[in-house]
Amino acid sequence: MAAIKTIGLLTSGGDAPGMNAAIRAVTRSAIYNGYKVKGIYRGYKGLVDDEIVDFKTQNVSNIIHHGGTILKTARCKEFKTDEGRQQAYENIKKHGIDALVVIGGDGSLSGARQFASEYDFPIVGLPGTIDNDLAGTDHTIGYDTALNTIMWCVDRIRDTASSHDRLFFIEVMGRESGFLALNGAIATGAEAAIIPEISTEQDQLAELIERGFRKSKNSSIVLVAESPVTGGAMGLAERVRKEYPQYDVRVTILGHLQRGGSPTAQDRILASRMGAAAIDALMEGQRNVMIGDDDEKIVYVPFSKAIHNDKPIDRELLEILRRLSI
Ligand code: F6P
Repeated sequence: MAAIKTIGLLTSGGDAPGMNAAIRAVTRSAIYNGYKVKGIYRGYKGLVDDEIVDFKTQNVSNIIHHGGTILKTARCKEFKTDEGRQQAYENIKKHGIDALVVIGGDGSLSGARQFASEYDFPIVGLPGTIDNDLAGTDHTIGYDTALNTIMWCVDRIRDTASSHDRLFFIEVMGRESGFLALNGAIATGAEAAIIPEISTEQDQLAELIERGFRKSKNSSIVLVAESPVTGGAMGLAERVRKEYPQYDVRVTILGHLQRGGSPTAQDRILASRMGAAAIDALMEGQRNVMIGDDDEKIVYVPFSKAIHNDKPIDRELLEILRRLSI
């Protein structure tokens, strides 16, 4: 295998707070170890469209505390085609890039996996998504910040919910996973979390109402994971209006608010450790792995294990939530 001299770096998919800290860590760690770095703008789109520039240590100054990604990001349709990936490979060769570090979520790492196998090209991934839905890592970069943002918002909604004795459904992100909803519910003392992982097992709304959450409280907050299987906050509110008209129900969809903001200390530290680990991995000859954290230790997770793999929620948390919401 040819020696790696130049490392290309991109962020892809939905941005997540801490991506900038990861960009800084990858860039500085690479330069520290004698590599050249190329910054690729707008994710795979920049690879296809040749938006590739030299990255020096100054390019990543003063970014650790900013949300978003200075490299910008995109969801790129062209990279899903053979022609798009061929064009990307030509640009990689043109710029003398010998390995890639890709920071992104499930879709982005799936693209990395396909490209790596088609072109026998070394890629290391970093889990960058607020959803926390990548298997093989306890945390993804951005998850902790999003959770804290949810907590901040729900604390405020609680004031008005309790003043009006209302039932609030608050929809949070997570795509097909309930990590933000479940842990957000525990952190905010919510009555319940309605999550996709158990949607087919039980009618979570009926269970909540039958449990009689009104026995000891007048207002209630329920966090709902966005997903067609949960029905979303709007769908659930509609059901309550029809089936349980005694409740005064309201909906808040937190939406993209959850993706922004200055990363928490935990996300900055995680991103810094993982960014440095990506360069260690390449130096050790690792290929096609995602950097993960397992019980505070850095681990290398093969792409095949990290992506398209349902990461289970901790069912004990559901029980704790139920117990604490009496
Ligand atoms: O994967 C991150 C995420 O924020 C999901 O939670 C959400 O479903 C999706 O991205 C939204 O994507 P977009 O910004 O393209 O609307």
